Order: sequence, then structure tokens, then C-alpha cells
Amino acid sequence: MAWRRLIRPAGAAATSAAALAVSVGHPSRCDDKDPPHPPRYPFWVKSIFHAHEIPSVRRGYEVYRQVCATCHSMKQLHFRHLVNFVLPEKRMKEIASSYDVVDGPNDEGEMFTRPGILVDAFPSPYPNEEAARYANGGANPPDLSVYTTAKHEGLDYIFALLLGYRDPPAGIDVRDGLYYNVYFPGGLIGMPSPLHSDGLVDYEDGTPCTKSQMAKDVVNFLCWAAEPAHDERKLIGLKAMSACFVGTFIVGFWYRSMWIGFKTRRIDFTKAVM
Ligand code: HEC
Repeated sequence: MAWRRLIRPAGAAATSAAALAVSVGHPSRCDDKDPPHPPRYPFWVKSIFHAHEIPSVRRGYEVYRQVCATCHSMKQLHFRHLVNFVLPEKRMKEIASSYDVVDGPNDEGEMFTRPGILVDAFPSPYPNEEAARYANGGANPPDLSVYTTAKHEGLDYIFALLLGYRDPPAGIDVRDGLYYNVYFPGGLIGMPSPLHSDGLVDYEDGTPCTKSQMAKDVVNFLCWAAEPAHDERKLIGLKAMSACFVGTFIVGFWYRSMWIGFKTRRIDFTKAVM
């Protein structure tokens, strides 16, 4: 708790003694517990009329493979999922075969390694959670298969998080293996800045590889991975909505023309003359 009080802006210094007393007495009234909310970024895919930005997803896969995959698994993704969505089949086969996959047992009961094929899952960097924690100073790098949907405002949050590393403000003790990140709840994260400098990845399409470009691309890739059928669903939704719209007019027109004869007819009941 102590360090939180120390990150108050200088102008607040005069009131901080009082505020401190209050926050000690009533922890629930300490309203700077929340990390800053990430800004709303204009990701293309957010609009109801837009699809995934596939060229960016493709670059994002490169970033994931070359940077994030050293620590983060994506167990729910298989190489075949990307075929014809992100990359052509031939290229995916090439990429899959660049990984060694443990298979077996063979006729002699031994496990063996072979080059990956399309039906294999993305290889995980660690055999189990304990190994992952051991390698990362006790922190477990979460599986990123559905992370953009798992987090509140996932796209904005992950983008902000990846670029949210700063020097810790004076007075904050950052122990070894933790890093100061503005957007991580609590401010100290166990992940070292993964996109620490420009040019970490060679983009095949020649896009300049800046930090923010990589962050955008990898977020788009994670978004695609969490919802590969997103485009299809959005398209069907739009078609259904426009069909309903047209249908409303047709039914309305039919209703009017069907009933117009009755609705505009006047019926008089007069006394029968006997
Ligand atoms: C050196 C290993 C390492 C690399 C490389 C790495 N991460 Fe992480 N990541 C971690 C660890 C460890 C955590 C858990 C941090 C914690 O709980 O304090 C983490 C956590 C995360 C989280 C979750 C944050 C949260 O709020 O729970 C996201 C999202 C994430 N990483 C995305 C990425 C992306 C995207 C990349 C690639 C650009 C990447 N990471 C590269 C180790 C890594």
C-alpha cells in the first residue's frame, strides 16, 4: 500500500497527509486502487461493419511466433486453423514443419520427435505450469488462445499493457523479476517488456517494424485467434438484420393493402323497415 501514496502528483502533496489518514482509516475509500483504464483505440475490427484486418493479423502471427511464443502458449490453436485465413496452406505447412513435435509411441513403445504438420497444435513453450512459473520468477504466463475475450476491453487492455512499461516513479521499490507497468493492476508485472525496441520482427510485407506496430498487429492476431469465425458471424448478422429490415416493409405494405378495404369501409346499421 505504501507506494501507492507516493505516486500522488506533486500538486496533491498538501492534501496527502489528510488523504493518507483517511485512506488508512477506511481502506475502501482509497480510490486510486484501480489502474488507469486503457484508452479506446480505433481497432478496425470493432466497428459493426468491419472484418478482421487480415494483413495485420498475418504480421501479428509473426510477432507472436518470434516474440511471445517463447513464454506464452496458445493451446487451442492448431496450424490448420490459419490455413487460408491467415496464410496459404503451403506456407503454413512450411511453418508447421519448422517445429519439432513429440509423437508416439512408435512400434517399440518409444516417443519420437518429428517435424510438425498442419493438424498439430501450436507447441507450448513449457511442459507444465510449474516449469513456466519457475522460468518466470513465479509468475505464470497465461495461455493467449482467447485472451482478448477473456479480459475486459481485451484489445485496448493488451495494446496498452504492451506499451505501458515506464520507469517506476520515485519511491516505488521494484524487486528483481518485476517490472513497472502503468496498466497492470497493482503496477508491477512479472513479464519483462516483450516489445522493448523497434525492429524485433522481420515483416514479410515490408511494414516498418515499430513497437506500436507490433503491439497493434499482435493484438489483432490474438483477437482473430479468439474468434476466427468472427467475420462470418458478423456478415450473417448483418444479412439477417437487413433481411428483417426489408421484411418489415414488405409485411407492412402487405398489411396495409390487405386490410385497407375493411379499414376504410363504413358500416351503418339502420333500423330495418318492416
Ligand atoms: C519472457 C517471457 C514473456 C514473453 C516473451 C512475453 N510474456 Fe506475456 N507474460 C509473461 C509472464 C510471466 C506473465 C504473467 C505476469 C504476471 O502475472 O505478473 C505475462 C502476462 C501476459 C499477459 C496477461 C496480463 C494480465 O493482465 O494478466 C498478456 C496479455 C501478455 N503477457 C501478452 C504477451 C504478448 C502479446 C507477448 C508478445 C508480444 C508476450 N506477452 C511476451 C511472460 C512473457
